[in-house]
Amino acid sequence: MATAAPFPAGRPRRLRTTPALRALVAQTRPAAADLVLPLFVREGLLEPAPIASMPGVVQHSRDSLRKAAVEAVQAGVGGLMLFGVPSTRDATGSGATDDDGILNVAIRDVVAEVGDDTVVMSDLCLDEFTDHGHCGVLKNVNGVDSVVDNDATLVRYAEMGLAQAAAGAHVLGLSGMMDGQVGVVRAALDADRLMDTAILAYTAKYASAFFGPFREAVESTLQGDRRSYQQDPANADEALRELALDLAEGADIVMVKPALPYLDVLRRVADEAARHGVPVAAYQVSGEYAMAEAAFERGWLDRERTIVETLTSVRRAGAGVVLTYWAVEAARLLEHGTRA
Ligand code: PBG
Repeated sequence: MATAAPFPAGRPRRLRTTPALRALVAQTRPAAADLVLPLFVREGLLEPAPIASMPGVVQHSRDSLRKAAVEAVQAGVGGLMLFGVPSTRDATGSGATDDDGILNVAIRDVVAEVGDDTVVMSDLCLDEFTDHGHCGVLKNVNGVDSVVDNDATLVRYAEMGLAQAAAGAHVLGLSGMMDGQVGVVRAALDADRLMDTAILAYTAKYASAFFGPFREAVESTLQGDRRSYQQDPANADEALRELALDLAEGADIVMVKPALPYLDVLRRVADEAARHGVPVAAYQVSGEYAMAEAAFERGWLDRERTIVETLTSVRRAGAGVVLTYWAVEAARLLEHGTRA
């Protein structure tokens, strides 16, 4: 006589008994090739300069940038995202469109060094280049002279896109959160027969406190905040509206940023983007990095496990690509396995 299985009949723990079983059924496997390393290059530097709020991250000289690019490629990292820090700034961010501006020079340097061995991406935004630190050019509205002028900014972004594409960037990272930015840059590229240059749209980018350390990294001069163009952290639905617009305007990859505090938004964007067959990225930003690094320093969190767990979480929530300051270290960890 058959006896009923003893309670409990379902035992999910069975598949957790050995590391081999756990590995066999693991659903999410972050890999080095999915990671993109953000890199800062500062005009005029002879030696790399540390960034206090981002231990382990530096502002590169042109020379050390090339070396860091090679190191990342050798570690198996999938791409690089370049940010330039100019030594002079002005109201319209002229340095961004100058062929000799630090970012355009750095793109050419990195492309010359690693070429098509990796994906060279560049930040397409004016904030590092303007003396007021906003992501666009300003206009005066009712006596307030610090209103970011959306459409005048688009003209600058189109010029910036052409300069970066001409310098050899494979992918342009449109991070400014101006309405219409993807369409305008796409049209400018296509008109110049640069149809192979791809656009990574910062689709859902929130006005976040987690960008704090980045502002130190690029020596931002911003007074005030970016709440009139970056999204309100209270809102999730409008991320889908931004997504619809970016897709209609021709975005090749869409991104959610920051990552860990916005995993719900990431999941929703990823589900919708999958219906259009468009890859999704997430940016683990400077504050996410700084927060964990501060805890590592105090011995409050285990470094390797935390890094891998956060990347796994971001991948699990739907990002195929992750921008992270830990990219090189994580690539090595993912290759060789963590201790625990
Ligand atoms: C804009 C830009 C920012 C970041 C990436 N691109 C700063 C901002 O929007 O204020 C933040 C990245 C990070 O915090 O790691 N050029």
